[in-house]
Amino acid sequence: MTAAERTPVSIDRARIAELTARESARLDERTQGSGKLYERARRTLSAGVASSYQMRDPWPIYLDRGVGAAVWDVDGNRLTDFHNGFGSMVQGHAHPAISKAVRERLDDGTHFAAPTEDAVVVAEELERRWGLGRWRYVNSGSEATMDAIRIARAVTGRETIVKIFGSYHGHHDYVMVSIGVPYGSIGDRDNLASLPYGAGIPQSVADMTIPVPFNDAAAMERRIERLIDEGRKPACVIMEAAMMNLGIVLPEPGYLEAVREITRKHGIILIFDEVKTGLCIAAGGATERFGVKPDMVTLAKALGAGLPLGAIGGTEEVFEVVESGKVFQVGTYNGNPLGVAAARASLFEVMTPQAYAHLDALNEHLVSGCQAVIDRYNLPGYAIGVASKGCVTFSPSKIVDYETFKANQDGELADLAWLFNLNRGVFMTPGREEEWTLSVQHTTADCDVFIAAFEEMAAELTA
Ligand SMILES: Cc1ncc(COP(=O)(O)O)c(C=O)c1O
Repeated sequence: MTAAERTPVSIDRARIAELTARESARLDERTQGSGKLYERARRTLSAGVASSYQMRDPWPIYLDRGVGAAVWDVDGNRLTDFHNGFGSMVQGHAHPAISKAVRERLDDGTHFAAPTEDAVVVAEELERRWGLGRWRYVNSGSEATMDAIRIARAVTGRETIVKIFGSYHGHHDYVMVSIGVPYGSIGDRDNLASLPYGAGIPQSVADMTIPVPFNDAAAMERRIERLIDEGRKPACVIMEAAMMNLGIVLPEPGYLEAVREITRKHGIILIFDEVKTGLCIAAGGATERFGVKPDMVTLAKALGAGLPLGAIGGTEEVFEVVESGKVFQVGTYNGNPLGVAAARASLFEVMTPQAYAHLDALNEHLVSGCQAVIDRYNLPGYAIGVASKGCVTFSPSKIVDYETFKANQDGELADLAWLFNLNRGVFMTPGREEEWTLSVQHTTADCDVFIAAFEEMAAELTA
């Protein structure tokens, strides 16, 4: 029976609250060392963390080390890692090939602000995988999307950009717009609101970014045509080909092809933000997996195999503005030798065709194992995944965009699942919108740990 055909059990809210309180207390008990470190950290490190996405009540879980598919926290708890550095560590921790490459590079000098051969070799391999002729490096996903948008604006001579409502593309002002807002503020589907995400972002900057719903090419086209009528033809559409921050939302059949058609027809640059999908869902990312070719892509996270490295790819025509010196695509640490050495080892020795076959098989095991639990206990939800990425979406109906996510996701169940996982040796990505990332060093036995923790929660919820 499919999720659409069955009526899921109704989960008692009081039971969720009771289990959440019990599991929170249990986690506090297991992580006293993190608690102590937090007390020290918060005196100098703001909120005790290096990035606000690492904040947690009552304290963050401080990690000590990671090897293969496992990490250890400062209390010595061993956790199988499904968080994998927000999806950066598809190679697994301390992979011998990456460690060797980085170690060798360390002894030969780590920074020159001049290109090295590794930077060329990696660009050649990215060209082969994505079929885009020109590449540049940056240090993060945010820098990649920021520079890609600047290039698109320079190529077209236009300012407005279009993004998908709810999508995250990094922390610069152009794209910190219309993400994670309360359901009531989304606005009309054909006129979604440009809302700054957090304080400090000028409304005038946010207004240059126009959100449209995912999986609705007709709505995108209507909005673009209106913008053209208003004299605000967009420079680019920036989007993930599969959304990776509402759990996972796959493109409906024909959607990406239609977007490609619309952007081509109107002379708008199509940017696939592959910071999460790139290298994680196929050798050539979403571009390969879904068979639709954008004008530009942005990469980061898994590209550096644990070192801060990002890249921007584009056609020769697009990069003409960089090569002619019209756009300054710059950065002191761009193409840092350590990062490109790690990327080279990753691309040629780790993320091989066999690695992708392994990830596909592993994820199939995990997704179908979670789905079997959902079916057995008749939970409101479904399991979904692609290559190394997947999640359980706690929603009685399919999520196709931000609107359906906000209306249907059971966030309290997502929070409870995270606590259940942590207390049973599963390090899962925090946040209601996140997914797991498997690494090439994971095994089916690792996935079984995840499935067992999930089954325990399902049994207790429905007891
Ligand atoms: C799709 C996407 N683009 C861009 C970014 C920003 O990357 P970074 O955090 O490296 O700046 C993220 C980060 O989660 C992302 O998921």
